[in-house]
Amino acid sequence: MAPLNITTLSLSLLALFSRASAWGTLGHDTVAFIAQSFISPATVTYTQTLLNSTSSSYLASIATWADSYRYTAEGAFSAPLHYIDALDNPPTSCDVDFDRDCPEEGCIVSAIANYTARMKDEALGVDERQKALKWVVHFLGDIHQPLHVENLAVGGNTINVTFDGAATNLHHIWDSNMAEKLIGGYSLDDARAWAADLVADIKSGKYANASVSWLDGIKPNDSIASAMHWASDANAYVCSTVLPDGQESVEGKELDGAYYDSAIPVIQMQIAKAGYRLAAWLDLVVTGEMGVRKGAVYGRDVETERVRRGKVELQDWMVEARRVRRAYGWNCGAEGHRH
Ligand SMILES: *[C@@H]1O[C@H](CO)[C@@H](O)[C@H](O)[C@H]1NC(C)=O
Ligand SMILES: *[C@@H]1O[C@H](CO)[C@@H](O)[C@H](O)[C@H]1NC(C)=O
Ligand SMILES: *[C@@H]1O[C@H](CO)[C@@H](O)[C@H](O)[C@H]1NC(C)=O
Ligand SMILES: *[C@@H]1O[C@H](CO)[C@@H](O)[C@H](O)[C@H]1NC(C)=O
Ligand SMILES: *[C@@H]1O[C@H](CO)[C@@H](O)[C@H](O)[C@H]1NC(C)=O
Ligand SMILES: [Zn+2]
Repeated sequence: MAPLNITTLSLSLLALFSRASAWGTLGHDTVAFIAQSFISPATVTYTQTLLNSTSSSYLASIATWADSYRYTAEGAFSAPLHYIDALDNPPTSCDVDFDRDCPEEGCIVSAIANYTARMKDEALGVDERQKALKWVVHFLGDIHQPLHVENLAVGGNTINVTFDGAATNLHHIWDSNMAEKLIGGYSLDDARAWAADLVADIKSGKYANASVSWLDGIKPNDSIASAMHWASDANAYVCSTVLPDGQESVEGKELDGAYYDSAIPVIQMQIAKAGYRLAAWLDLVVTGEMGVRKGAVYGRDVETERVRRGKVELQDWMVEARRVRRAYGWNCGAEGHRH
């Protein structure tokens, strides 16, 4: 609840930030805490040095920086980098195609490639490299949220639903409401506790077997291919779990019930995967395998990039879907507390 004497300005700022999108604070902080517990000692030193922080939440406390930065004039360009709008056809078919789905302004896949290279690029200086690391930590989280890798209904933002009686939208409950219901809060300590449970599940619990294959698809010399593997993995859940019976089956419905029950195991696993993969990715950066490739665009060479832009022909409905997304802008989610 906002205090009644709050100024109009801060009220609108509050509304702005509360629509902030992406796994909420809880999801991002949890992903970062999981990564903190799996990264190698060399990576701990590297990231703590770059961030100038030895706090016990050195990655978790920067995990949502990117969601604040995108609302500044300086950071507005980065808003489209939090997602890739797969122009697929759920629930009939789900797929992500980099050439088709990553537009001129960039997307989460090109951003992961760009900022992975930039965090290692000594020529850039500490400020830019620090920002690059913060983006990598954040985007490795976002790319595991199925509705951050889907175009339909602006990533579910225009599908109105209720959750526990409150009016919201499908994107927002995947970002925040369902995880917060599971955990019962969204503080840094809630994230720390959730991360500890998921780390135990990965090491010796319910993900011990599955996690063996979670690092498949990582190609140290190709950030685009690696990030596309994660995007495709998350996008498959749009067909299987997010909208198995189509948009109409959830529109206007109360989803704190059977829907929550089917979604929550996927949310838990996606958060666990994101943290585990983030740790592996940062380890690759530190060992030097993810360095800057000279003359590269998004980790691909300039000629490859030119050819791919030239070859894609979008169908009319895809052009319209992309227009709708751009018109919708970077607002994301429904009213709620700040994420
Ligand atoms: C690092 O942090 C310390 C204390 O938090 C501060 O005094 C120092 O100026 C910082 N150094 C850099 C390079 O930002
Ligand atoms: C969804 O809710 C928003 C406001 O909460 C409203 O503006 C919009 O028209 C609604 N959309 C549909 C399809 O009902
Ligand atoms: C993991 O796989 C092994 C061997 O296939 C099996 O014995 C064990 O029960 C599995 N553990 C879990 C948690 O599924
Ligand atoms: C990456 O490495 C693999 C094998 O290690 C090789 O087959 C592939 O061509 C390389 N890709 C790029 C883009 O260099
Ligand atoms: C990489 O990031 C920098 C800094 O945010 C940006 O200026 C540049 O356009 C990006 N390049 C690509 C290819 O995305
Ligand atoms: Zn985000």
